[in-house]
Amino acid sequence: MKRSKIAGIGYYVPERIVTNDELTKVMDTTDEWIQERTGIRERHYGVKHEETTSSMAAAAARIACERAGIAPEEIDFIVFATLSPDYYFPGCGVLVQRELGITHKEVGALDIRNQCSGFIYALSIADQFVKTGMYKNVLVVGSEMHSMGLDFSTRGRNVTVIFGDGAGAAIIQPTDEPEQGILTTKLHSDGTYAEKLAFINPGAHGGYHFKKLGEQVDFGYPPPDTYGEIFITPKMISDGNYYPNMEGQFVFKLAVQKFPEVIHEALNEAGLKTSDINMLIPHQANLRISQFVQRILGLRDDQVWNNIQRYGNTTAASVPIALCEAWEAGKIKEGDLVCLAAFGSGFTWGSALIRW
Ligand code: COA
Repeated sequence: MKRSKIAGIGYYVPERIVTNDELTKVMDTTDEWIQERTGIRERHYGVKHEETTSSMAAAAARIACERAGIAPEEIDFIVFATLSPDYYFPGCGVLVQRELGITHKEVGALDIRNQCSGFIYALSIADQFVKTGMYKNVLVVGSEMHSMGLDFSTRGRNVTVIFGDGAGAAIIQPTDEPEQGILTTKLHSDGTYAEKLAFINPGAHGGYHFKKLGEQVDFGYPPPDTYGEIFITPKMISDGNYYPNMEGQFVFKLAVQKFPEVIHEALNEAGLKTSDINMLIPHQANLRISQFVQRILGLRDDQVWNNIQRYGNTTAASVPIALCEAWEAGKIKEGDLVCLAAFGSGFTWGSALIRW
């Protein structure tokens, strides 16, 4: 079986920078609190009505294509990871296809809804398709327009201050080089605590999980009575009950456990050690999480790429943006061992080892 490699990468972040101080104008928070707890100084927001998750993805994808030496029409499969799609359906995969002007009928498109681990899941899927010879140019994208769906009142401050907009993309191709490419990917999930980091409404749950889990999931909101109200009810709107919620400390504690676990798992399978890693690209969830993981793994500062200070958490886009930035900065060279790792809502987590 062939190996697959990242043949080209690109990223796009919207021009508009939103500082912590700007957020203090609309909610009760401070620059000091945000920086101390998360490391974030600023994030980017897309231009409303002009930019979307799929348009930002297309911008990143064009750069990835150019660097891979292909035209967008040569893409034969698209794997699109996002939690903030343009539409509830259809997915963003077909929208980025249209935006890139890919009109040939051989192309397929798939959306991944794995939130923070979405890009690693997408990469793993692309890897399988390329290795088996089914596709030759797979576009893998992670893109998020969080700013359109956050609660900018004090009630939503624990979530809102963390997230930012942006997109990252990669072209996955087969390689004949025996030492190069994606060595392994590891994917995991555990739905036990699905609601601890979730965007519940609108949704077709109809109150089912609320009844089943009782006290564990109490959003102070009764299930809708009529079928027509399954997705969103007037009460949800009047309560403002249509935003993401997160139990931050719960997420933090699991993240610092799962990151090292899944990195070790990939290294063990590849017969490698933490000291072999040239660059770790952790999902940018919180600078404190990345620093904790770095300490546990015994890595130096120059072996870990952090950019959450400037972008916040861009969920499915965070790994490809960080990977691309590190590569553009000359910190990833041919032959380097690059480790990608992510943990997030679901919970789902994963890692990938790449010989660059
Ligand atoms: N500004 C000011 N105060 C805030 C705030 C904000 N933006 N957000 C929350 N607070 C307050 C809380 O209301 C609470 O106040 P109280 O003590 O009066 O009740 C206090 O700060 C502490 O809240 P807590 O949630 O315990 O803070 P924390 O130290 O756990 O930090 C997170 C919150 C969200 C930064 C942190 O838990 C975290 O990063 N968790 C992981 C999240 C994550 O990675 N999510 C993405 C998944 S991939």
